[in-house]
Formats: sequence, structure tokens, C-alpha cells
Amino acid sequence: MSDEKDGGDESEQLTLATEGPGAPAARLLRAREKAKPANILTESHAIWQGDVLEFLKGLPSTPVFDLIVTSPPYNIGKSYETRQGLDEYIAWQETIVDELVPRLKPGGSLCWQVGNFVEDNQIHPLDIEFAPMFRRHKLQMRNRIVWTFGHGLHTQKRFSGRYEVVLWYTKTTGKKDPYTFNLDEVRVPAKYPGKKHFKGPNAGQLSGNPLGKNPEDVWNIPNVKSNHVEKTDHPCQFPVGLVERLVIALSNPDDLVFDPFAGVASAGVAAAIHGRKFWGCELKSNYARTGQARVQAALQGRAVYRPHDKPIYDHTKSPLSRPPWPSASIDGEDGAAR
Ligand SMILES: C[S@@+](CC[C@H](N)C(=O)[O-])C[C@H]1O[C@@H](n2cnc3c(N)ncnc32)[C@H](O)[C@@H]1O
Repeated sequence: MSDEKDGGDESEQLTLATEGPGAPAARLLRAREKAKPANILTESHAIWQGDVLEFLKGLPSTPVFDLIVTSPPYNIGKSYETRQGLDEYIAWQETIVDELVPRLKPGGSLCWQVGNFVEDNQIHPLDIEFAPMFRRHKLQMRNRIVWTFGHGLHTQKRFSGRYEVVLWYTKTTGKKDPYTFNLDEVRVPAKYPGKKHFKGPNAGQLSGNPLGKNPEDVWNIPNVKSNHVEKTDHPCQFPVGLVERLVIALSNPDDLVFDPFAGVASAGVAAAIHGRKFWGCELKSNYARTGQARVQAALQGRAVYRPHDKPIYDHTKSPLSRPPWPSASIDGEDGAAR
């Protein structure tokens, strides 16, 4: 794919200023300026601007990533992709997955965030298309996380879509192979923290974990629409909070997080905030530059983002949630009873 349309300011300084000597900096390496993929090996936070397949093929074929987390193009005709037939698209994605998996460390995790490919008003959930690919690579699926959100287009010929999924796999083989899962660090408030054991030897004692409950596998995190604090000029960013929970739970400080389709580097922001290293690939120069600036801001403690554990806004508090027409009484005095 060509990125001529978006252009790129060749005179731009490629390394942003850091806060002080030795402070980590987010760098931008550009394929078209003859940067070599292997140049990234000495970087802690970097974005390769160019084609991901070219990047991966230019790296040694040895495990280097601790966590791969991405949202690939969905083949739905966005400005950054050329829409292809579904089979053709999946075959292209497979060439990338084939290069990614050998570079994931044993015990590492791969998270693939996808929605639907839509054709003639018919949906093809992409996780169904990707699952056989990961199975062929013998990755073990740990969760199929449903990411649900409250806003989007209203469709006329089917129910409006309000979720996408994250497939989480580990590069493990047996039942006992270790992998990183920092559950305590992503616990969320329990529904009934005051609940006590009713009977048995622990009767009267609190029954829940004082750190909170497992966040479960349905995550309600607002998507990045025009009034979201994270909104950039990218048409489909995933929220930092979504990837933040994955980064905290599935990697450790100083681990290397990689996003092969980095966009404006939302994964890089989450990684930088939580002391992980980050490499990303992005084809389009304007997104790559924005991504570099966002990661740099995060490294300097200036990330603007919505954390994964921030409670969902209660829309019933808004005056707009009150119907402007007189409401019917439920006991049938003023209106029809049902
Ligand atoms: C769904 S978006 C990812 C958005 C990202 N998660 C974020 O929050 O900004 C997919 C991205 O993949 C990029 N892309 C498409 N083809 C690519 C390729 N061959 N190599 C690298 N990046 C590519 C697109 O330009 C687009 O920004």
C-alpha cells in the first residue's frame, strides 16, 4: 500500500527532545529513508514507519517480543487499506502471523483485537477467520474477550453492533507451561465487597478478595469517538484503557510489547505508562508521527488517556436523558398500563 496521499514532512526531527540525559525517547525509523529494521534492536521505544512484513523479515528470526497486541486493518475500506476479498485478506494476514509467531517468546502472549468484515450487509466476524490460523501455530487460547462499548452507527437491517473481540493466546504447549498473568494488578471493585461467608468455617468473614474481583471477559470500555480525550486524526484507534489492561496483566515491567499495526500507537502509550518497552510498525507517516509524539508524552508522564478502571459515565445523570414529553404513569392512572 502506498502512503503518498498522507505525505510526510521529511524535514521533521526524528527524535523528540527528552526530559534529561539518559531519559528514554520514542524514535521513528523510516523504511523509505533507508532505515534498516535491525536498527530497532537497540531501541526501547520505537516506531518503524513502513510495511510490517518488510520489517519482520528484516529482524532475526529469534523470539524477542514478550507481548504482541494489535488491531489489524479489518478490510472494510478505511483510508489506510485497500479492500480485498475476504480470502485474499486472510491469506495476507497469515503471511504476517507466520513471521510474528516465531518472534514471540515462549510463555509470551499474543492479543488480536478484531471486529467484523461487512459485505452486502452480511457480517463475517474476523475472530472466526483468524482462529484456525493461530491454532495451526499451536498457540493456546486463554480468553476470547468481548469488548463492548456504548456508541456507534445505528444499522437499519440488523441489530447495531456494539462489541468487538480480543483473542488472547499464549505461546505455551502443555498444561503446566508458565505464562504471565498479573491478575491482582487488574482487579476491579467487587459488586458486594461487604459480602460475608454465610456458613462453614469462615462464616462471618469477608468472602471476596479485598483487592477486588477478576475483571472477567466482558469489558465495557468507551470506544474512541470524536469527544473522547484520546481522539486523534486516526479513524479507528482502540482506547488506551483496553490495551492497558492487557499490558498490565500479560507483561512485566521492562518487557517488550510489539504492535505490528500500530496506528497512532495506543499500545505504545499503555506500554510507556507502565514501564514496558514498545516497538510498533505503521505504514502511514502521519499516524506514525502522531504515535511517536504520544509515546514520547507518555514517557514524560504527560499521556492524555482514559484509564481502564475508570467507571463508565452514568448517562441517567444527564438532563438529556429525561424525555422531553410527559412520561406515562406505570400504574395506569395517566397512561396505558402494560
Ligand atoms: C485498525 S488500525 C490500528 C489502530 C491502532 N490500534 C491505534 O489505536 O491507533 C490498523 C493500522 O494498520 C496500518 N497498516 C495497514 N497496513 C499496514 C502494513 N502493511 N504495515 C504496517 N501498518 C499497516 C494502518 O495504516 C492502520 O493505521
